[in-house]
Amino acid sequence: MTPHHFRKVSDLSSDQIRAVLAAAARMKRAPLADTHVLAGKTVALIFSKPSTRTRVSFTVGVHQLGGLALTLSEQELQMRKSESIDDTARVLSRYVDAIVIRTFAQSDVDDLAAAASVPVVNALTDDRHPCQALTDIFTFEERFPDARGRQITYLGDGNNVATSLAAAGAMTGIDVCLSVPEGHDVPAPLWAEIQLLAKDGGTRVWVERDPRAAVKNASALYTDVWISMGQTDSEEKIEALRPYRIDAELLASAPGDAVVMHCLPAHRGMEITDDVIDGPRSVVFDQAENRLHVQKALLTHLVGGAG
Ligand code: CP
Ligand code: NVA
Repeated sequence: MTPHHFRKVSDLSSDQIRAVLAAAARMKRAPLADTHVLAGKTVALIFSKPSTRTRVSFTVGVHQLGGLALTLSEQELQMRKSESIDDTARVLSRYVDAIVIRTFAQSDVDDLAAAASVPVVNALTDDRHPCQALTDIFTFEERFPDARGRQITYLGDGNNVATSLAAAGAMTGIDVCLSVPEGHDVPAPLWAEIQLLAKDGGTRVWVERDPRAAVKNASALYTDVWISMGQTDSEEKIEALRPYRIDAELLASAPGDAVVMHCLPAHRGMEITDDVIDGPRSVVFDQAENRLHVQKALLTHLVGGAG
């Protein structure tokens, strides 16, 4: 049987996303109620880029579900040095019950998934960050139980976080406005994919270059770093992104109940100011906590038998 992978948000149907988010809410209320789910099972965590939240939340989550998390850095593996991704996938599938991977190219995750006989979970690539996106929707709905039809405005670089957030919003009834400068848009093929998801979901995902206009009707203002892991610093890019920083002035242009989101790590003073990220409208640290609950629910869905 083909395993159920989570390479991108749309590897889950809208109904499956709903089921995962509902399970996450239950797990948040009772974090140690599901210690049987991964009993006797092992989850490999492969990291080719740094990570705090993803690494720790998966490790703790697997432990709380009764399983063993095995963290592997790419330097420690033969993968891509002495053997192919395919062979690594085949071998790991004989030992472990799921593979979580953070790497550079999305194609490496897709290749690993194609050769693996256990579920493969994308823990961030240059193109996508689907685990983050599920948590973002969970956190938004936690704040706004009437989330359907509300709007999240993402400001900054059209990167992996923006791409997956837009896909997840499109599939869950939430409109997503991307306020990104010209030249820093979500790549065209990913944009086309998001538009199809929005059409199916009856939602809107669009670009508004003017940050003030973009936040006017938003229930959340979301941002991420301007220079992602693996990218080289660029003065030109930073200058282009400066008007998209979330500061008190931009927040004042949003509705009074709008919250502020960031996937972290934050470059304080760049894409977001201290007063905003530490202020009363920030849900950033709830968002970080929620990675744990949502990923436990995801692993339960994919590995624990319900998948
Ligand atoms: N948001 C997120 O994925 O954080 P880490 O890079 O610390 O895992
Ligand atoms: N866009 C950021 C997200 C970090 C969680 C990066 O890829 O570095």
